Amino acid sequence: MTAPTSPYPPGFVWGVSTSAYQIEGAAAEDGRGPSVWDTRCRTQGGVVNGDTGDVACDHYHRWEEDVGLMAGLGVDAYRFSVSWPRVLPRGRGAPNEAGLDFYDRLIDRLLERGIEPWLCLYHWDLPQALHDLGGWSSRDSVGWYADYAALCAKRYGDRVKRWITFNEFSVFTLFGYAIPWAAPGIVDRTQHLRAIHHANLAHGAGVEVLRDLVPGASIGAIHNRQAVIPETDTPENRAAAALLDEHWNLVFCDPQILGHYPPQTAALIEPHVQPGDMARIARPVDWFGLNHYGPIFAKADPSRVWGYGWGDAPPDSPTHGVGWAIFPDAFRDELLTIQTRYRLPIVVTENGCGGSDVVASDGAVHDPHRIAYLTIYNAAMRDAMARGADVRGYFVWSLLDNFEWGSGYGQRFGVVHVDFPTGTRTPKDSARWYADLIRAARQGGSATTGAVTPPAPAR
Ligand code: FCB
Repeated sequence: MTAPTSPYPPGFVWGVSTSAYQIEGAAAEDGRGPSVWDTRCRTQGGVVNGDTGDVACDHYHRWEEDVGLMAGLGVDAYRFSVSWPRVLPRGRGAPNEAGLDFYDRLIDRLLERGIEPWLCLYHWDLPQALHDLGGWSSRDSVGWYADYAALCAKRYGDRVKRWITFNEFSVFTLFGYAIPWAAPGIVDRTQHLRAIHHANLAHGAGVEVLRDLVPGASIGAIHNRQAVIPETDTPENRAAAALLDEHWNLVFCDPQILGHYPPQTAALIEPHVQPGDMARIARPVDWFGLNHYGPIFAKADPSRVWGYGWGDAPPDSPTHGVGWAIFPDAFRDELLTIQTRYRLPIVVTENGCGGSDVVASDGAVHDPHRIAYLTIYNAAMRDAMARGADVRGYFVWSLLDNFEWGSGYGQRFGVVHVDFPTGTRTPKDSARWYADLIRAARQGGSATTGAVTPPAPAR
């Protein structure tokens, strides 16, 4: 009998992802300044239940326990973000030593435990002081970001080699400046277009700074690509889907990797583009970070600033606990589309399943819905790989239940349950499942090979 071969290439990276504002807490501790999300949480109606990231998972104090949980999972890598306002409380100027020290300790401990740090510079928590100066709609944001990137590169670049310039540009630009579902909650076409262009320029500036300051850096940006499907097949919905597709899927990847804006945006953004900008944006990166959960259903919505809105999935679609549609084929197709269009190695930097998991009377957290989702999405990823997608790694969102932005603490995405606000951590059944998957994948074992018969997704 021949030993089963692993469908994962040598060096395939298994990881977990988090972000600073969603887990750290300690919002006013050790000199951290406020971010636009602190402000958003205090704006009436900004977040369900009036939840805030003030305490979150208290990771700022429990980080050692959290690194231990990662070691227990057997992951190769941990993707986290640095909180810009923790290291630069006013966004620029004097750095905050206590904040910088926190990430030094975290990075050192990760390395001691054999877990590679993947450092994301921006996961949406712009310092409020910079927003007050115009935020992403000001062209000055490019310089603020480049200086912040240089600070982190100089401080951590001796130990951190995996760098991510931004997480999900389209969320903080579209939901921050056009559809007010995220900080800073502005609705303005011109500011949205300017934010798009400046975030692209900042990405390019970040790549340049990291190449200069971190020898051997492996650099990527994270894009949340999702097929945009008209809710029903009408000319209005098709037009809505086409424009949303540009704003969601194309206005960052295309200029950053192909060097141009997609057609509808190219015409409108022209007044904000200066000579030389497109070359500054399109600095070569080493890999493509993909965050993916499911497709988007779009509809015409004249009440929204760009005339499109979010529609509903077909009524018979399977969904997970937070109502997001489960479409593993769309994940497979997205991986193949990215491979063909951008021709870079791909790392799946987020994929996961939300729910309202509880600690059962036996003290465990049973989350079969999450195991079902992760099983079929991993099978879809392997399918894409078998068809030619060059996928180099997979990170579950998330290590911990955490502050899920506008949805507050009600939507749990962790493989580890967190009891808010005591902070008690309980690995869920899915944590054991993930640890087993990683072990089997490394051994080329049967758990990762051949056809997978997924359990039926929970409705
Ligand atoms: C992604 C975000 C991440 C988390 C997951 C559920 O869009 O990057 O912070 O909120 O969704």
